[in-house]
Amino acid sequence: MGPCTAEKLTDKVYWVGAIDWSVRDFHGYSTSRGSTYNAFLVVDDKVTLIDTVKKPFKGEMLARVASVIDPAQIDYIVSNHSEMDHTGCLPEVINQVKPEKVFASSMGKKALEAHFHFDEQLITPVRTGESIALGSSNLAFVETRMLHWPDSMVSYLDSEKVMFSQDGFGMHLATTERYDDQIDPYVLKQEAEKYFANILLPFSPMVTGLMKKLDELGLDIDLLCPDHGPIWRSNVAGILENWKEWALQKCSRKAVVIYDTMWGSTAKMAEAICDGLVEKGISVKVMPLASSHRSDVATAVLDSGALIAGSPTINGQMFPRMADILTYLKGLKPKNLVGGVFGSYGWSGEAVKHIEQYFADMKIPLTGDSLNINYVPRDEDLRKAREMGLTIGMDLCERCPE
Ligand code: FEO
Repeated sequence: MGPCTAEKLTDKVYWVGAIDWSVRDFHGYSTSRGSTYNAFLVVDDKVTLIDTVKKPFKGEMLARVASVIDPAQIDYIVSNHSEMDHTGCLPEVINQVKPEKVFASSMGKKALEAHFHFDEQLITPVRTGESIALGSSNLAFVETRMLHWPDSMVSYLDSEKVMFSQDGFGMHLATTERYDDQIDPYVLKQEAEKYFANILLPFSPMVTGLMKKLDELGLDIDLLCPDHGPIWRSNVAGILENWKEWALQKCSRKAVVIYDTMWGSTAKMAEAICDGLVEKGISVKVMPLASSHRSDVATAVLDSGALIAGSPTINGQMFPRMADILTYLKGLKPKNLVGGVFGSYGWSGEAVKHIEQYFADMKIPLTGDSLNINYVPRDEDLRKAREMGLTIGMDLCERCPE
């Protein structure tokens, strides 16, 4: 692959996406390794572009298309997902190439019309079970509502055994390599897990349903092509299995302790709680919020059995970083967790109560009473914090068989 040329994936399919080396924030998700916006070109009797890219990357995508075929020869465009990282340049591309048809799910049609104020005739809606003939191949559609938008769908090219899965099975990772087996497995697993935790977690029950549906369809998949990150060719079964596992959010003997601190008191309590957990054989991640991004906390929570949160009280409130992380986590709806709450205060102490309310809203039961310490913890207070760790550790050991 040279600069802005397509990469041939199969006889008929080309990668024509864009690499975003600089993006570091994706509506609150820290994309520390950048991202790709993948688009795919199917060259058959009907030349078909599957998804497009974020608006500023239109030139890069069209240059890759042009390295294969004149973009004006595109007959069909399929939009598997309406979010603007995959449709930002769609209106301009439609104007430029004037395709015969543009396909999307019925919810996708609505979403695209709401985003771009398209004429009602422009988008042809397709449903699960429908397919379009491209010549010597057919492209079949499976709607995947709420994975992760109402419009989401996947499409499957039968002759090449290629599934185009939009955000599904993707990750934010900018690379010049296109395939899973060309990337360090540690990075691959870490970024796939982070993506699931931050994007898919609230929709876990739907993921479980989709995985069942895919199993029932029995599609033979040689290439699994998400709209972000590498294409799965060597470990298709592995990423499908990972998604099944992550969606279950099984109980585990791991704990995440998040805290913020003003003068070190809450930090001391966090350390003592960690000691207690470790004594019970729990693997602990202590995440000071001054140096832990919300999307990394969400990733840590995905495979943990306990979430323990501590904050000082400032002006009758918890620390702003704690409010940020709890608001974010509440939206992600993590399951199968137990909780603990702690904090320190000067003359009032509302933070602990406010954090407890978040835990109640998230339906995370608290193991034991919360700890709220005046100013600086004494040895006795730290013993109680350690006790809290021991109690939560014992609870986890009972709930989560090894
Ligand atoms: Fe990659 Fe939901 O957009």
